[in-house]
Amino acid sequence: MGDTARRIRECLKARGLDWPAAILDFPSLTSTNDLAKERAREGASEWSVITADEQTAGRGRQGHGWASPPGNLFLSVILRPHLGPRQALLIPLAAGVAIAEAVGELGVEARLKWPNDVLADGKKLAGILVEGSGLGTAEASVVVGVGMNLTMTADEAPSEIRESAISIRALSGRAVGVDTAASAVLARLTVWYHALGRKGPDAVLGAWREWSIDWWGQRVEARLGASVLHGLARRVDEQGALVLAQDDGTEVALLSGDVRELRLLDQRQR
Ligand code: BTN
Repeated sequence: MGDTARRIRECLKARGLDWPAAILDFPSLTSTNDLAKERAREGASEWSVITADEQTAGRGRQGHGWASPPGNLFLSVILRPHLGPRQALLIPLAAGVAIAEAVGELGVEARLKWPNDVLADGKKLAGILVEGSGLGTAEASVVVGVGMNLTMTADEAPSEIRESAISIRALSGRAVGVDTAASAVLARLTVWYHALGRKGPDAVLGAWREWSIDWWGQRVEARLGASVLHGLARRVDEQGALVLAQDDGTEVALLSGDVRELRLLDQRQR
C-alpha cells in the first residue's frame, strides 16, 4: 500500500469507516477506470478502490478525455450491485449526489447537471464515469470513476476546457489533499449506494433533484450521436432519464448513455 492509499484509509478511519476492501494507489495510470475494470474482471471485491496521482489517458463520458494532471483526484471504485434493474440504472445519479455532498464538505457548493456533471460557479468541478459489465449475472460489476479538480489551474487545463473548468482551490482558496477529497467521496458514496438498495429509487431521485441546477421548464439542446433535439427540460423520470417536451408537444425520455452534450439554450443556469 502506497502513502496515498494509507492516508485515505486513515481519513476514512477517522470518520468511523473501516474500509472493507483494498485501496491501491499508483503514481501514473492511463485511466483508473481501465485498471478497476480489469481488476473487477479478475474478481476484485466490492469497494476495491484504485487511485492515481495522474492519468495519461483519463476518460470522460461519451468518448471525451479527462484532463488529469497531478494534484487532482482520480479515483475508481468497484461495486458489485445486487440491485434490481430500476435501482441499478440510478447508480450514476446516486454517485452524483454523493460527489455533490463530498464537495460541500470540502467547502464548495456544487450543483448537478444531468446526468452527473458536478458544477460550481457554473463550471465543471468534477465528473463521474460509470461503467458496468456483466450486468444481470452473478459476476456483475460497476466501476464508478470520479475525477475532481482540486488544484488544477487555468495554465494546466487544456485550452478547450480552460474557460469551462474550475477547481476547489480556485473557488475556496483552500488546498485540499487527495486523501481528504477521496475519503469524503468514498464515505458519501457508501451512504447513497446503500440508500439505493435500502430506501429505493425515490430517495435517490429526490436527493438528486435537490442538487440539480434549476433549469426545469427551460429550453435545452441535447446532442445524441448525429441528431440534435431541442425542447423544454421537464423532469428526470424514475429511470434517471431526462424528459424533454418537444415543440410538437410530444415528450421524449433521454437516457444518459445516449446523450453526448446537453446545454441550456438561454444562459440562466443557476
Ligand atoms: C465526465 O464528466 O465526462 C466524466 C469524467 C470522469 C473522470 C474520472 S477520473 C477517474 C476515472 N478514470 C477515468 O479515466 N475517468 C474517470
